Amino acid sequence: MTDFIHEPVLLEEVLTVLNPVSGGLYVDGTVGGGGHSEAILEACSPEGRLVGFDRDDWALTAAAKRLARFGDRLELHHEAFAGLAKHLAKRSCDGVLLDLGVSSPQLDEAERGFSFQSDGPLDMRMDRRQRMSAVQLVNELECEELAEIFWKLGGERKSRRIARAIVEQRSMQRLETTMQLAEVVERACPRRGARSHPATGVFQALRMAVNDELGQVEAGLNAGWSVLKPGGRLAVITFHSGEDRMVKQFSRQLAKPYTVRGEVDLPELREPREPLARELSRKAIKPSEAELGRNPRSRSAQLRVLEKI
Ligand SMILES: C[S@@+](CC[C@H](N)C(=O)[O-])C[C@H]1O[C@@H](n2cnc3c(N)ncnc32)[C@H](O)[C@@H]1O
Repeated sequence: MTDFIHEPVLLEEVLTVLNPVSGGLYVDGTVGGGGHSEAILEACSPEGRLVGFDRDDWALTAAAKRLARFGDRLELHHEAFAGLAKHLAKRSCDGVLLDLGVSSPQLDEAERGFSFQSDGPLDMRMDRRQRMSAVQLVNELECEELAEIFWKLGGERKSRRIARAIVEQRSMQRLETTMQLAEVVERACPRRGARSHPATGVFQALRMAVNDELGQVEAGLNAGWSVLKPGGRLAVITFHSGEDRMVKQFSRQLAKPYTVRGEVDLPELREPREPLARELSRKAIKPSEAELGRNPRSRSAQLRVLEKI
């Protein structure tokens, strides 16, 4: 396997909003290569601590090595961030970071099956203890189920055509590799000068489905929020519009000075209450031009920050 090198996105911005201090307790729900964790641990020295989580054992092993010098100021768990609250007391943390999605080394390692740039097994599991991988979804889901995943999670406009092409191809031969899948998608939807590969949305959608990424975001936001102290901050970096919408809605709900009786937010159904949170800015924070030049993979990153009142 290659070295685990991932350039952390929006690093300065994350440090500014979390403002780590000595003696503070911080959570990194997505440790990855450990870039954000390292910067937080440095900023909260000498006494601050960080509890880190990742679903990927490869990422955690690399991070443990990189962060070994912090000794017992660091605690790592091979676990999804949806489960972070059981390792922390309620209202004990000063800051929680979720940097969603996958890291560059995961994408670049053919064996993990996340990318159509190189040939590998159709895997896409972040946590390799999990049984279900992309090969099952691609070969076993009904045509309509595949089309729905491609449309809802990948924003793929030709989702039905692609799903039909997959079903036709697999009736002759099971699809086992990333290249086989990419070729089927490309045959169904030729590139015709488009900048991105026609399989981009399909691969993103399958990855999100295999890892239940939207379910994780919902559970992770609630878990992260529950462990924050008053004044503590939840910082979330997303790379997908569906995820950003979830974070925005979560923030808006908590920041409202009222609750609503019923499903629809009508003025007559509102009951006043003190807001539970403060949004640091209504607009998401995006990478600077300098960062975009240095790291093109940061282009779709958006950071939202919420402070517990
Ligand atoms: C974008 S990378 C994080 C990079 C990291 N901030 C750094 O500085 O290197 C996302 C990481 O989160 C992990 N991950 C994604 N979803 C997760 C989840 N629900 N629970 C725990 N880890 C998750 C992935 O395995 C990956 O290592």
